[in-house]
Amino acid sequence: MTFPHRHLLGIEQLRPEEITTILDLAEEYVALNRGDKKHSDVLSGLTQINMFFENSTRTQASFELAGKRLGADVMNMAMQASSVKKGETLIDTALTLNAMHPDLLVVRHPHSGAVDLLAQKVNCAVLNAGDGRHEHPTQALLDALTIRRAKGRLHRLSIAICGDIAHSRVARSNIMLLGKMENRIRLIGPPTLMPSGIEEFGVEVFDNMDEGLKDVDVVMMLRLQKERMDGGFIPSEREYYHRYGLDAEKLSHAKPNAIVMHPGPMNRGVEIDSDIADDINRSVIQEQVEMGVAVRMAAMDLLARNLKGTA
Ligand code: NCD
Repeated sequence: MTFPHRHLLGIEQLRPEEITTILDLAEEYVALNRGDKKHSDVLSGLTQINMFFENSTRTQASFELAGKRLGADVMNMAMQASSVKKGETLIDTALTLNAMHPDLLVVRHPHSGAVDLLAQKVNCAVLNAGDGRHEHPTQALLDALTIRRAKGRLHRLSIAICGDIAHSRVARSNIMLLGKMENRIRLIGPPTLMPSGIEEFGVEVFDNMDEGLKDVDVVMMLRLQKERMDGGFIPSEREYYHRYGLDAEKLSHAKPNAIVMHPGPMNRGVEIDSDIADDINRSVIQEQVEMGVAVRMAAMDLLARNLKGTA
């Protein structure tokens, strides 16, 4: 297995065969996680520090669990309570932590590019757990694994990504990953939530759900990222749900066996109807969470092999 990277900062830096390498290894961890003894010692002796400068439930919990299942010493830094609040810069915080000799640093930050900057200042492997609107590589990888398992392949599928594309690092990383694997990508959402010039990424853009969802294999819904909106991007949540919220009627335009995805956290009744989110025949939202742990185990395993020089 070749994975010649020191850090996992984004999907942008990965080649298709490296994406496949991560997903194949993640499959082994899916099996481990479903077994009785959910433990391996590939990260034994290594220290993993999770630094989350932005709220997170799934991502932080799954990185923590992933590290523990692989035998690392895992520390969660409570960034709300840290010296950052006293005015310490990101780089000073990073250098302080670096002096404690971590091997893996998992970072989420509200500013696009902050994680790349930090990676240049430390001696360990850095994993981007989401930076601003920029990238969220492990989310795109877990989505890819979920799709590959549900559809039996990860190429030549028609995939709709719907909603608040403009503020979404999940959308950005997914557009890159699914594009690299040669899928057809459709973006659906109001023009106010569509980044300008996005067509250059080889995607088709729609502002009508019925048209955009026609015959797709995968429907990926996104949360309205209200915390990143500083003005009136939508008339009202009610109106938004009416036009873009996924319900049974809109979903009927997709292929009959199309799967429904959402990275979480969901705003039920805003971007997705509860009945659809909870429909175990269509929704793979719980599988996404399960794949998240396995993909993070695989990513940390591969980076750790490079640290030891055994890759
Ligand atoms: C996403 C995130 O934080 O970028 N959530 C996640 O990681 N599961 C999406 C979101 O916040 O809407």
